[in-house]
Amino acid sequence: MKNSKLLSFLLTAALIVTLFAGCSGEKTGGDIEKIKVGLSLPTQREERWVRDKEKMEEVAKEAGIELIVKVADANMQEQITQVESLLTQGIDVLILAPHDASAAATLVEKASKEGVPVISYDRLITNTEKLGYYLSFDNVKVGELQGKYITEKVSEGKYIIMSGAPTDNNAKLFKEGAMKYIQPLIDNGKIQVIAEQAVENWVPENALKIVEAALAANNNQVDAILAPNDGTAGAAIQALAAQGLAGSVPITGQDAEKAAAKRIMEGTQSMTIFKDTRDLGDKAIEMAIQLAKGEKIEANGEVDNGKINVPSVLLEPKVVTKENLKKVLVEGGYINEEDLK
Ligand code: BGC
Repeated sequence: MKNSKLLSFLLTAALIVTLFAGCSGEKTGGDIEKIKVGLSLPTQREERWVRDKEKMEEVAKEAGIELIVKVADANMQEQITQVESLLTQGIDVLILAPHDASAAATLVEKASKEGVPVISYDRLITNTEKLGYYLSFDNVKVGELQGKYITEKVSEGKYIIMSGAPTDNNAKLFKEGAMKYIQPLIDNGKIQVIAEQAVENWVPENALKIVEAALAANNNQVDAILAPNDGTAGAAIQALAAQGLAGSVPITGQDAEKAAAKRIMEGTQSMTIFKDTRDLGDKAIEMAIQLAKGEKIEANGEVDNGKINVPSVLLEPKVVTKENLKKVLVEGGYINEEDLK
C-alpha cells in the first residue's frame, strides 16, 4: 500500500471505530450499569398506570439500569417541568407517556436537542418529527373490538357513546375503531345516539354526569353504552345502578382493572379489553436499553403522528368477557381469584 492509500485506509478505519463508539452509547460506554432512563407517566389514577410503573421499575432493577420515574397528575404543566428535570439529570433515553399528545411535542424536541431519544409510551406524541419510536397496543383495534362486541350484543336501539380525553390521541383511535361498527348502524337507522360525548381528562365523575343526564333525558330508555375504559364504565354502571338498571344495559370497557373484572363476573359490565401492561413495560425497558446501546429496534408498524410515520411496536389487545375471564386474567396471573370476590 502506498503511503497516501495507507493514510486514507487508517482514516476510514478510525472514522468507523468512532461511529460505532458513538452508536454504542457514548455516555454509557457500553456499560449497562451506567444506563440511565427517564420515565414520565401521565397519571396513576387508573390501576393500569400503577402496573405500568411497577413493571418498568421491576424490569429496570433486574436489568441493572437506573430508572428515574416521574408522575404528572394529569397535568401537562407538571409533566413539562418533570421532563425538563429528567433532561438535566443526564438520562440516555426518555420513555414518555404524554398527558397531552401535541403539547408533549416540545418535550421531544428538547430531548432531541440533548441527544436523548424518546419512546412514546402507550399514548402517541403528535406533531413532531423528532420522535424516535412509539410503543403501544394496536389502539384502533382496541376500539374495533369494543365496537364489534357492543353491536353484536345490541344491533339496534338507543346508544350512549362516550370517548376518552380529547387530549389523548388514543381516545381518538379507540373511537375511530368502535365507530367502524357503530356508524353503519346509525346510518341505516337501527341505532339512535342519545348522547355522544368525550369524557374530559378520562375522569369517571364526568362519565357519571354524562350517563345520568342521558338517562334523565330519555326516561331511562337506553339499550347500550360504549364506555372507552373501565374507569368510565364503572361510573356509567353507578348511574345505571341508581336507576335499577345495572346489568340490563350492555356496556364496554378497557384495561382489565380488578374492579372491572369483578363487575364482569357479577354481570354489570359486559366486557373489557385486556392490554397486558406487563408486556408493554417489559418491552419499554428492553427498547430503552437497546437505544442506549445504539442498537437497532425492530418495529412492527408505523403510526402517523401528523408529521412523520413513527416506527412503532404495537402489541395485541384482547377481549375479555365472563366466558374467558378466568382463563385469561386469573390463569394468566394478571389478577387473583381473590380480586373477584
Ligand atoms: C390508555 C388507557 C387508559 C386511559 C386513561 C389511555 O391512553 O391507553 O389504557 O384507560 O388512557 O388513563
